[in-house]
Amino acid sequence: MLVSDSENPEREIRRSLEQSLKQLRTDYIDIYHVHGVDLKDYGYAKERFLPVLKKLRAEGKIRAIGITEHFVEDPTHTMLQQSLQDNCWDVIMVGFNLLVPYARRNIFPLAKKQDVGVIGMYAVRSGLSQPARLKALCQSLVEKGFVASDSLNSDEPLDFVIGDGGALTVPEAAYRFCRHEPGMDVVLTGTGNPEHLQANIASILKPPLPDSILARLERAFGGPVGEKGSLRTTAGHAESKA
Ligand SMILES: NC(=O)c1ccc[n+]([C@@H]2O[C@H](COP(=O)([O-])OP(=O)(O)OC[C@H]3O[C@@H](n4cnc5c(N)ncnc54)[C@H](OP(=O)(O)O)[C@@H]3O)[C@@H](O)[C@H]2O)c1
Repeated sequence: MLVSDSENPEREIRRSLEQSLKQLRTDYIDIYHVHGVDLKDYGYAKERFLPVLKKLRAEGKIRAIGITEHFVEDPTHTMLQQSLQDNCWDVIMVGFNLLVPYARRNIFPLAKKQDVGVIGMYAVRSGLSQPARLKALCQSLVEKGFVASDSLNSDEPLDFVIGDGGALTVPEAAYRFCRHEPGMDVVLTGTGNPEHLQANIASILKPPLPDSILARLERAFGGPVGEKGSLRTTAGHAESKA
């Protein structure tokens, strides 16, 4: 649902919501997300859209109000940190995966304290499903200081998550990692491939990864959050789909 820089956001949101309800043949929407918000646009979203969404929630047309981040540009979650401080959203959608797990430190504890629902995105994406992209992404994470250079095998950076009580595949490890993360309520999986869907359901039903693998992932990728920049590279679009 797209709402432009309108003079009258209430009218636009209502019109757009009514259209969606008609198309979905339902009377209400469970979670209405304000989608892909950057920190610089957050104040605008809160002032212009939130009051309207609160009215719609009071009218029963939506059940919960959510906000989602622009993860590639904001991997340390500056916008979601602000939204949690404001404590006015019911649900957040946060980028989280075994390569970029910062939400563990600066999002999940406060979300839990405030009883805000947490939906995880980017569990796998192309960065964890395509070996060439994984390699490029890990190289870029090392270059940008997200990851220590001596903590990974540069040819197969995630070789240690496979076998020996670990996972059968990297996507399996990636979904298990997110599914068992304390503070994560729902893990999204996006696939157009029925075999992948079945494999992903099986992965999500498996137990947590062994402690030894989790400890190694933490050593490699779980460093201090700090002021880290975009995951995007100038070399290509590997990170834009990280
Ligand atoms: N707020 C935002 O800005 C934002 C941004 C991104 C996503 N989202 C939300 O997140 C949802 C999930 O998207 P996501 O990209 O985060 O999902 P994801 O599950 O992390 O990644 C989906 C990608 O992984 C591949 N994949 C999935 N299972 C696989 C498997 N078993 N083996 C190999 N490749 C596999 C898929 O390709 P195949 O189709 O070939 O399986 C697809 O390219 C979206 O529907 C959207 O609602 C929101």
